[in-house]
Amino acid sequence: MSNPIGFFDSGVGGTSIWKEVIALLPHENTIYLSDSKNAPYGEKSKEDIVALCIKNTEFLLKQNCKLIVVACNTATTNAIEYLRNTYNVPFIGIEPAIKPAALKTKTNTIGILATKGTLNSALFEKTSSTFRTHIKIKETIGKGLVELIEKGKFNSKETTALLQYYLQPMIEENIDALVLGCTHYPYLIPQIRKIVGNTIKIIDSGEAVAKQTKAILKKNELLQLQKEISKHFFYINMDKNTLKKLVLNANNKKQVKVIETTF
Ligand code: DGL
Repeated sequence: MSNPIGFFDSGVGGTSIWKEVIALLPHENTIYLSDSKNAPYGEKSKEDIVALCIKNTEFLLKQNCKLIVVACNTATTNAIEYLRNTYNVPFIGIEPAIKPAALKTKTNTIGILATKGTLNSALFEKTSSTFRTHIKIKETIGKGLVELIEKGKFNSKETTALLQYYLQPMIEENIDALVLGCTHYPYLIPQIRKIVGNTIKIIDSGEAVAKQTKAILKKNELLQLQKEISKHFFYINMDKNTLKKLVLNANNKKQVKVIETTF
């Protein structure tokens, strides 16, 4: 089926997930919604997050999306149940990858960097509680990081200082795995790596989400079987500069268009 896969996030971060999905499913068409005007979602109430997710979902459904990837941990942990109960398309969500980190840790201590909205959600509490019986989970809210990434400040002094401030206490607690529980954070991996060194594993959920997306498309017989050049539309309700930097590249096997609009 040639209908697009829809993606939404509070901003540009979900493109880290989009890239993984497209690498695995290169012929799929996609529409990505970057709700940057309302970022960060992580500081909002559950009710507000659900309302924004409804708005984003309805925009994508009007464009005939066959499946929606909620490319945001904060939106998933607060709203995916509502979305699945309300709309008649499959939803793929993203949650902090505690399980792979818990399986890998030798120090029995892992770190999670995520938004307040994710760490305070009932879904995160439920998932993490099954692991808390045998490992120590050091949670940290990455307040301010999403805003810096939205501005394209991946490598600024301010970003490095904030990362240092959040990560140093985790290093002192002897974590050996760091879960990136926000889809914006994979864009900071080079800076994070400089701070945590090579012995701490950095884990995100992008690849797992891509595999799950493929499996659900296949199960519902929604895969795009034509081997045409794929088309990708990005809609953003703020300045499009950072988004363009992240998604326009030399890969001419796909058509990419970034559009500034209101929604
Ligand atoms: N990319 C979103 C996430 O994964 C960022 C949330 C926010 O805007 O605070 O949680």
